[in-house]
Amino acid sequence: MSNRRNFIKAGATLITAGVLPVSLVKLAFGGEREDFTFAYISDSHIQHIKGSKFVRNWDQGLIRAVAETNLMNPKPEFVVFGGDLAQLGSKPELDHGAEMLSKLNYKTHMVMGEHDYYLDLGKYWSDLFGEQHYSFDHKGVHFITLNSILTYDEWTYDRWSTPEQRMSEMAGLDNPNGSPFMVGKRQRQWLKKDLSKVSKDTPIVIFSHSPLQKIYKGWNFWTDDAEQIQKLLKPFKKVNVVYGHVHQIQYNQIGNIAFNSVMATAWPWPYPGTYAQGDSHLPVMTVPMNRADPFNERDATGWQLIDVHSGRVDLNYNLYANQNRSVAFDHKKNRPQDVDYQDKNQQIPPQLHF
Ligand SMILES: [Fe+2]
Ligand SMILES: [Fe+2]
Repeated sequence: MSNRRNFIKAGATLITAGVLPVSLVKLAFGGEREDFTFAYISDSHIQHIKGSKFVRNWDQGLIRAVAETNLMNPKPEFVVFGGDLAQLGSKPELDHGAEMLSKLNYKTHMVMGEHDYYLDLGKYWSDLFGEQHYSFDHKGVHFITLNSILTYDEWTYDRWSTPEQRMSEMAGLDNPNGSPFMVGKRQRQWLKKDLSKVSKDTPIVIFSHSPLQKIYKGWNFWTDDAEQIQKLLKPFKKVNVVYGHVHQIQYNQIGNIAFNSVMATAWPWPYPGTYAQGDSHLPVMTVPMNRADPFNERDATGWQLIDVHSGRVDLNYNLYANQNRSVAFDHKKNRPQDVDYQDKNQQIPPQLHF
């Protein structure tokens, strides 16, 4: 119910914002900050076959997210694309993905994914979309985008004989040749400077591709300098991190920081716990949704509508072939919570992932 209420409130904000002076809008909502919504689309993995041919299923996932986002009422105030636009970082893939994203009726903020980056180290992506890390303010909330998929120089520059080889190594989920992701020293210094201009009670929302926490190194659900970034964020009252890459719903709370992942439009990854029936490596508070069904090509894919209210984020998952889900921030428990968990008895059992 609270989500429904937030939708209505967001709609009312949009209507009143058009006709009332700013001071009256603030009065109407009882505080400095207004509620609003934005959409989050991620991990489309647009894959070139040859000539003008692309993998149809991945195209369909992104086309549907763009179309549904455009049809939203009330309208989200902007869109974030969370990275892995392309599968192997090629110009045809990035061009084709950019063309599809250009159909969005909203300002779109872009996040770098490893599949976009490791062919030419982000050069063509930046030609198309601009900065790889940046911040902006919207209605009293400070938003920060980081490129979290960088790695060690030796691995980036020395190890591979061709850029294609480097890209294909990084494209594997459980590749033992892979190197851990990180934000890196230069961006951490930039982040520190950016945060120095922000008051401690300003809500912060960070967009990264990989989780800014250490979940499961074997699949690179991992950011190597996560603790250093968390430390920079510690003095702020309300911090929210929204990340892609994991193609599944995860959530967690570490101190003042709420973590939420988003789904892919392309395909779901199974939870690490289902891999070879091994130990679960999920964030502590995550309640796993049903694992991916490999016979349903649209299983557990979709996009998100995110409510921002009282400096926290609620994620509404619009799943193409599954019941929609919401992970809302519980202000009493001070952490995110799945508000409609699917009954265990209705789930198909865990399986080996091949
Ligand atoms: Fe991805
Ligand atoms: Fe990724």
